[in-house]
Amino acid sequence: MTTRFLEDKIIAITGASSGIGQASAFVFAGHGARLVLADIDEDHGEATARRIQERGGDAVFVRADVTRASDAEAIVARAVERHGRLDGAFNNAGIDGAIAATADCTEENWDRTLAVNLKGPFLCMKYELAQMLKQGGGAIVNNASVAGLAGVGSLPAYVASKHGLVGLTKTTALEYAKRGIRVNSVCPGPIRTPMYDSAIKNNLVDEKALLALEPMDRLGSPDEVAEAAAFLLSDRATYINGHAMAVDGGWTAW
Ligand SMILES: NC(=O)c1ccc[n+]([C@@H]2O[C@H](COP(=O)([O-])OP(=O)(O)OC[C@H]3O[C@@H](n4cnc5c(N)ncnc54)[C@H](O)[C@@H]3O)[C@@H](O)[C@H]2O)c1
Repeated sequence: MTTRFLEDKIIAITGASSGIGQASAFVFAGHGARLVLADIDEDHGEATARRIQERGGDAVFVRADVTRASDAEAIVARAVERHGRLDGAFNNAGIDGAIAATADCTEENWDRTLAVNLKGPFLCMKYELAQMLKQGGGAIVNNASVAGLAGVGSLPAYVASKHGLVGLTKTTALEYAKRGIRVNSVCPGPIRTPMYDSAIKNNLVDEKALLALEPMDRLGSPDEVAEAAAFLLSDRATYINGHAMAVDGGWTAW
């Protein structure tokens, strides 16, 4: 059986310059996808696209801030201009926001976290769906979190944004199910990425306490999330819709 199960699919990835998004770029390209990579970090995004091209893949980078409608629109426009269509999208860009219990969460932290993590995927989906409706189908995966399935202390804005994203994913899945578009989310547990490393470095997360909750006794890797997203975007998952797939080593199974 071929492992190139995304062969020639045109897929956009947001937050593609780092962590899970960058790993997804390499994994999706390895499965044969042609990619439009988007991020606010231009240097690492361009470098990621270049590395894929050097390995014989097809990837271009677009500088885009997912909180801006015109940028979200430009990601889809780039795919259509280059390939004539958009088969899939991994709306992955996100931030963790500041660590503070609800009474201490600033309005600014709340607004920024919700803007990137919830408004961002909403804006991206708006334009992705419009194109997918035109062409008669497609698949979308939103990157939520286990924080979209359960509460996590001192991260009220992040948890609210990710619960919102899981709900938005389900609603969108229902709206477009009859028109050939599937919409799912992945819900990663703790994954070793720059976002995670900076939280550890700044003593915002206690790794020992975190691992004590992790049945597998280890963090996940960005590739493990990327493979789940690749599957959901592929034609191997044609009856999976509106699903929030935990990729967490069993964290939410306790
Ligand atoms: N690392 C984890 O443990 C973990 C766990 C669960 C969910 N997630 C989710 O996975 C996603 C990726 O996280 P990561 O750990 O790879 O983080 P990361 O910080 O390594 O990568 C995030 C990327 O998103 C980009 N980005 C941030 N704001 C943006 C914006 N407004 N527009 C476009 N791009 C923007 C950043 O520049 C960066 O390249 C996030 O949505 C995060 O909430 C991560």
